[in-house]
Amino acid sequence: MSIPTLSPLFFSTSEDLLHHIKSLQIPRSVYICDNQTQEHCFAPFFSPAQQEVLVVHHGDEHKSFEYLEWICKQLLLQSCGKETVLMNLGGGMVTDLGGFAAAVYKRGLSYMNIPTTLIGMADAAYGGKTAINCAGVKNSVGVFHPPSQVLIWDGFLQTLPEDHLRSGWAEILKMLLLFDAKLFHECTDTLTNLNNPGRFLRKALELKERVVQQDPYEQHYRKMLNYGHSIGHAIESCSGYHMSHGQAICLGMQWENHISVKCGLMTAERCRYINGRLQLLFPEVKHQWELHSLMSALKNDKKNQRGALQMTLLRDVGMAEIAISVEESIVKEVCIQMGASGE
Ligand SMILES: NC(=O)c1ccc[n+]([C@@H]2O[C@H](COP(=O)([O-])OP(=O)(O)OC[C@H]3O[C@@H](n4cnc5c(N)ncnc54)[C@H](O)[C@@H]3O)[C@@H](O)[C@H]2O)c1
Repeated sequence: MSIPTLSPLFFSTSEDLLHHIKSLQIPRSVYICDNQTQEHCFAPFFSPAQQEVLVVHHGDEHKSFEYLEWICKQLLLQSCGKETVLMNLGGGMVTDLGGFAAAVYKRGLSYMNIPTTLIGMADAAYGGKTAINCAGVKNSVGVFHPPSQVLIWDGFLQTLPEDHLRSGWAEILKMLLLFDAKLFHECTDTLTNLNNPGRFLRKALELKERVVQQDPYEQHYRKMLNYGHSIGHAIESCSGYHMSHGQAICLGMQWENHISVKCGLMTAERCRYINGRLQLLFPEVKHQWELHSLMSALKNDKKNQRGALQMTLLRDVGMAEIAISVEESIVKEVCIQMGASGE
């Protein structure tokens, strides 16, 4: 069974994007934004007076059952039928939440993703994964439900704060680390023009598309893309979502590289090289972690098998291995080495 996924469409101006949406002649559309994308992306470009819009509060802690219920109730109150198309205009928080609402409302609506963050453009908007967080565990409730279209205009990035731009670059670097050694090196050499991701964004998406087409439901090959995410999600949850997703993933990749060394997969020299390059993206990290909280978040990771920790680890750039069972003691050792405290 395959997910029918149309390739993401790129637009060079906001007018082109709006013209495309208009040409689709959607019978009824409801935009989902958060309060920041409503202000910076919806109000200036989308003729707000003529559109139906639902605005949720920004922040990953609101990718929740409460907001899922709120969206569904609003759709019911406004008598939205199966013909309604949800237009998710925002970062990964909005596209994950709006995509999930589309999946479950009246057993499934069509939806489109219009990503406004670099993470959204490079990763979250495309691929059909939708989810909310539950009991502090990232993306623990969700389904595969692909958007009918992903519409990308990188002009939205002009108002995105720098830490969120860096966050998006972390996902681009992850794709390059997994598949393209030369481009990874080149990209980390030229990380200056942060809001102009250009060919690196297109390459990251092209690589993701290839993986998703091959394994849409993450039965095997797509697990590659979870590199950095076992530790990364634990770090993100334990920061109370105060750390950006990309920064957590960037740290997750570095910590997992240390785990890979301890598992005998990566050499210490390659770990130094890759981590040194990744640190260029977030040179300063000022966070404290409790070992106990990290370990309990990790134990709920979706990739685990029968309670045993499983990770995607890198041997080298372009050489990932999926479903590696990792001893808890190794993970604890690395967490402590990287600054986690307590038992
Ligand atoms: N479904 C997937 O495959 C997938 C992949 C990667 C990440 N994700 C999810 O994506 C989320 C992280 O993505 P994110 O960083 O885009 O988060 P986000 O949606 O929370 O956006 C980050 C912040 O930027 C603001 N913002 C968004 N666009 C803006 C703009 N153009 N101008 C000004 N401010 C803007 C938002 O309001 C928010 O405060 C996480 O929940 C993660 O789990 C999902």
